[in-house]
Amino acid sequence: MEKIVSLCKRRGFIFQGSEIYGGLAGTYDWGHFGLALKNNIKNSWWKKFVDSRRDMYGIDAAILMRQEVWQKAGHVENFADLMVECEKCKKKFRADLIEENKCEECGGKLGEAKQFNMMFATKVGASEDSSAISYLRPETAQGMFVNFKNTVDAFHPKLPFGLAQIGKAFRNEITPRDFLFRQREFEQMEIEYFVRPPETAHSYEIRNDTKVRKEEEKEEWEKYFEYWKDEMMEWMEEVGIDMSKVHDIDIAKEDLAHYSKRTTDFEFEYPFGQKELFGLAYRTDFDLKNHGLDYVDEEEGKKITPHVIEPTFGVDRAVLALLLSVYTEDTSTSLSAGDKDGEARTYLKFKPNIAPVICAVSPLLKNKPELVEYANTKVFAPLKTEFGRVIWDDNGNIGKRYRRQDEIGTPFCIVVDFDTLEDNTVTVRDRDTGNQERVKVEELKNYLKNKIN
Ligand code: GAP
Repeated sequence: MEKIVSLCKRRGFIFQGSEIYGGLAGTYDWGHFGLALKNNIKNSWWKKFVDSRRDMYGIDAAILMRQEVWQKAGHVENFADLMVECEKCKKKFRADLIEENKCEECGGKLGEAKQFNMMFATKVGASEDSSAISYLRPETAQGMFVNFKNTVDAFHPKLPFGLAQIGKAFRNEITPRDFLFRQREFEQMEIEYFVRPPETAHSYEIRNDTKVRKEEEKEEWEKYFEYWKDEMMEWMEEVGIDMSKVHDIDIAKEDLAHYSKRTTDFEFEYPFGQKELFGLAYRTDFDLKNHGLDYVDEEEGKKITPHVIEPTFGVDRAVLALLLSVYTEDTSTSLSAGDKDGEARTYLKFKPNIAPVICAVSPLLKNKPELVEYANTKVFAPLKTEFGRVIWDDNGNIGKRYRRQDEIGTPFCIVVDFDTLEDNTVTVRDRDTGNQERVKVEELKNYLKNKIN
């Protein structure tokens, strides 16, 4: 973890929030490459779960919502963790994360556990009375439920259908820790998938003059629960998360969130333990019922309250799990000439479509104007226009540039040398193997396109 945190800072991926004032715990700022990586992850998610489907509607709801939303959703009452305070140094801890019954900091005695609501309260407008209270949303989900009617009225979707949203969520975590894992401000990618309620969803047969449900049939929510479990795993694999470190765990009844009847967590083997990465919940009709929302079912000719399957993904945990999956240290000496200096090589083995940078372009020597001119106008400019995620790198010698690009996870480094001026070919060096090949400048775009897809 330390190596990854330090690489993220050194290479401009992720910085501690408010760092110059000593840092604000549980917040992080995203630098150029971290942001590119995060955007690629979000785009891959949106492409798979929204753009490629006919049954999904995107939404971007306001972060501030009326307090009634959180009252009806049960969060004002239930969105709390048990907290204990050290009687000596006053430090606070989450009761369920305490290993021994004494203060982790000073060894002092811990007081009684109390409920601590994790929502950030704020006030909207100039009024001081309690009607002005609002909360920074602790989940993006409610922004979708409260727009259920708007979506149905605007698009007239048939069941099953879903709403999808990517956006910030805020939780006043008692003990933010483990880098991106437990933050106070983070991002979620969530789907609320609406299916027929159990009583209308299955077929019946008449046995001994009685109407009975066909035995082999699963409830509608059960079928979609399994379906979304597979979809979630497929996306994790597509994005490059190491699936050998992912485990699906059914959450025990007593540990379920207040809205869930069944939850499967996908846990990841982080260096600090096997913990939650993403989750899949059967939220029943809990939210729509509480908000008083229903749906006119044309087939049944009556109002019904759909049930909800919720696949939820933390963007930041996706980034963390991916960084841990692709971080590679290579001590092999099989790299090509000019590409080794005897040191262990660190590289991020991102898939090219997820990597923050697709390729770096370098003139072999930065003090040779003819190389710089060629590299800039004939290679860098057209590739930059085509792919966007292309960078210019002429700092230090070639070996140093490769090391730097390896740490950023750039799959290809393109070098313009003196032969280029003669034959219009460049060297393309592969991040993972260190192999180099000559490619014609006019074929570079297609060469890269083929590698990316
Ligand atoms: N709408 C359901 C919901 O919010 P959750 O399991 O509480 O469910 C969903 O959160 C996902 O958000 C988690 O699986 C995790 O990836 C991410 N997440 C939750 N709390 C987080 C935190 N404090 N820091 C970073 N990510 C977090």
